[in-house]
Amino acid sequence: MKDYYGRKINYMRISITDLCNLRCVYCMPEEGIVKHPHQKNLSFEEILNLIKAGVSLGVNKIRLTGGEPLVRHGIVDLVSRIGEIPGIDDLTMTTNGILLPKYAKDLKKAGLNRVNISLDTFDPVKFHEITRWGHLEDVFAGIAAAKAVGMDPIKINTVLIKDFNDNEIETFVNYTKNEAVDVRFIELMPLGESSDFAENKYLSNDEVLKKMPALMPLLEPDKTGPAEYYQLPGAKGRVGLINPISKHFCSECNRIRVTTDGKIKPCLHSDNEIDVIALREEGKSYQEILLQAINEKPERHHINEHEKQLRRNMNEIGG
Ligand code: GTP
Ligand code: 5AD
Ligand code: SF4
Repeated sequence: MKDYYGRKINYMRISITDLCNLRCVYCMPEEGIVKHPHQKNLSFEEILNLIKAGVSLGVNKIRLTGGEPLVRHGIVDLVSRIGEIPGIDDLTMTTNGILLPKYAKDLKKAGLNRVNISLDTFDPVKFHEITRWGHLEDVFAGIAAAKAVGMDPIKINTVLIKDFNDNEIETFVNYTKNEAVDVRFIELMPLGESSDFAENKYLSNDEVLKKMPALMPLLEPDKTGPAEYYQLPGAKGRVGLINPISKHFCSECNRIRVTTDGKIKPCLHSDNEIDVIALREEGKSYQEILLQAINEKPERHHINEHEKQLRRNMNEIGG
């Protein structure tokens, strides 16, 4: 299915919970989420119906996000029910990794191909600070668990934060020398209550290339996602740059997002939302609802021109 601007939409990102076992400062307030009165979350049945409708319209890539998707009860069951839907080529998840030692084996068996794991520092004290209480060794245990069950590729998401981890760029890049993982630096985006933090701590990903001139662009660019990939000569892994701010990739956008409470967001950086639960009550089919959302996908985001902060925090949208 194509949107109004001719972009092929084949990627659905579904936030299955807005709860998390950490509190990264750029994502969620310390006190956690404030439940909106009358908030209804999508049930497994509703998620599966949306995915089936998406697949019938050409979606072949599903990503489960959060919050932290692994804290939702019944997660393995949900993955296995999604895994049974014919037509999905890539079933994946973005996670902080902490619960992977517990779930990786069952998730792989249920049909989850791979995971992207968030990690912003190699320093346990800084990790504790940015997540407000996390333990770094839990993330490495999660990475090891994902590897052990054969999830591949494993991608590490590192949000680049000024005066926090810009002095670790070299450490992250060097990590790919001996580890067959993709480390992806992500530019900090202003969303919800953490918008001020993002404004003060933003650094362009150009910084990575400035600090690591030995990084070479891949001879054959990887066109599967927003990251531009580079590699150190002879390295086992790759380094990706995701540049939503300095060079937005909107013209290549292939995705729609679903929030925990059942709103389809045609664009991460717009407050426009299509209310699945309300439209279902009006008698619309899942297909009709998805088509409406795709039709409303804007040509590009306008983050750099926003005067007001976007309403939702990242933990409700899932990145
Ligand atoms: P792959 O399929 O493995 O390439 O993953 P992905 O990059 O699509 O997903 P992931 O959840 O790992 O996202 C990484 C980061 O890229 C997150 O911070 C996302 O918010 C950001 N990102 C992904 N898609 C978009 C997008 O369409 N627009 C913007 N602005 N950021 C995006
Ligand atoms: N800006 C950029 N990336 C963010 N993430 C969460 N909040 C932000 C933000 N404000 C990242 C997480 C996760 C991915 C889905 O998005 O670290 O890896
Ligand atoms: Fe697409 Fe919006 Fe992302 Fe731009 S910001 S690439 S329009 S989802």
